[in-house]
Amino acid sequence: MNMKLLQLFLTGWAALAPFTASCSAEPKAGTPDAGKPDVTETGDETPQTPGTTGGKTLVVWYSFTHNSEKIASALLTHISADVLEVEPAEEGLDYAANNYAIGSSLIAAIRNNPSSASSYPTIKAVDFQPDNYDTVIIVTPLWWSQMAAPMQSFLFKYGASMAGKTIGLIVTSASSGISDVEKDAKRLIPQGKFLPESLWIRSSQVGSAAQLTAAWYDKMFPTQNETNAMKVKITAGGKSFTAELEDSETGKSFWGKLPLTLEMSELNGNEKYCYGVSLPRKDLFYDTIAAGDLMLYSGNCVVLFYGAAGGYSYTRIGKIANVTGLAAALGTGDVSVKFEKQ
Ligand SMILES: Cc1cc2nc3c(=O)[nH]c(=O)nc-3n(C[C@H](O)[C@H](O)[C@H](O)COP(=O)(O)O)c2cc1C
Repeated sequence: MNMKLLQLFLTGWAALAPFTASCSAEPKAGTPDAGKPDVTETGDETPQTPGTTGGKTLVVWYSFTHNSEKIASALLTHISADVLEVEPAEEGLDYAANNYAIGSSLIAAIRNNPSSASSYPTIKAVDFQPDNYDTVIIVTPLWWSQMAAPMQSFLFKYGASMAGKTIGLIVTSASSGISDVEKDAKRLIPQGKFLPESLWIRSSQVGSAAQLTAAWYDKMFPTQNETNAMKVKITAGGKSFTAELEDSETGKSFWGKLPLTLEMSELNGNEKYCYGVSLPRKDLFYDTIAAGDLMLYSGNCVVLFYGAAGGYSYTRIGKIANVTGLAAALGTGDVSVKFEKQ
């Protein structure tokens, strides 16, 4: 619910000399989950052009039971994008009550008269500036095989202004296929340049949303995940590891501070942390954290995980892909860790 975090813009990245910090401890937070019914079958694909986003991306999402919200959050750990939440004007409606009566009648109204504005439920005002974006990625639930009504309202209002933009579609359902949601999107954004594949994430797969969205995005935008990755050599206990930083303001800012030696403290048998390194913050809730995750906690604490964790909010700085020997190298106590450009 708290994802109206329009992307932070830092002016330049501070060119800092080698830096050593010493550190201290702290706590964290949590969230819920959901999923629901079923009606139809499978999806089709309508191949068009591959993605070539060179400019800015907007992720726009609507969610009733938090699945789309979690999917959008997961995607945003992989890409830099602005974020927009679509919210129904009428608050507190339970679309699932009485065998989905409200959701069902909203969808029926649109089906019966899709060209009339009065068929679409009112949504809260949004600050959508289409000219700012080359790519719009829509994250929406499926309702009765169609696109959820509030997202249809958003697209009914703004779809024409997305002409010529690259459009990505991520749909979550309990089990129904998403082909009719794709048709809704194409009806509502008639001049959109749709990616060749939409991503379908069942409610039961939301826990894997980070991997699913990253794999889909990298397939759709093959030129995005190429060469000039920021690779960092991390040395501790006489052993070195390679981390790749996020292509985000946080990753870039960390890159700009290197080389850096941090005196990191031990916590919980799975992480080393160090306060005193301030970086741009765009926190997301992580259900699961893996060994090798390099995270920013509380905007000024670098955390390097060497064991599984989760249930707190962080901003990702980067990740060590090969963590073999990481736990042994970091040891069981406080440790000095050197970060340098590779
Ligand atoms: C009104 C309504 C209708 C739904 N209809 C279907 C359906 O026809 N088929 C299906 O597989 N799931 C259906 N669902 C379940 C949602 O698509 C699914 O739980 C989705 O992951 C919810 O996303 P959200 O948590 O972002 O709202 C429906 C949910 C609601 C609220």
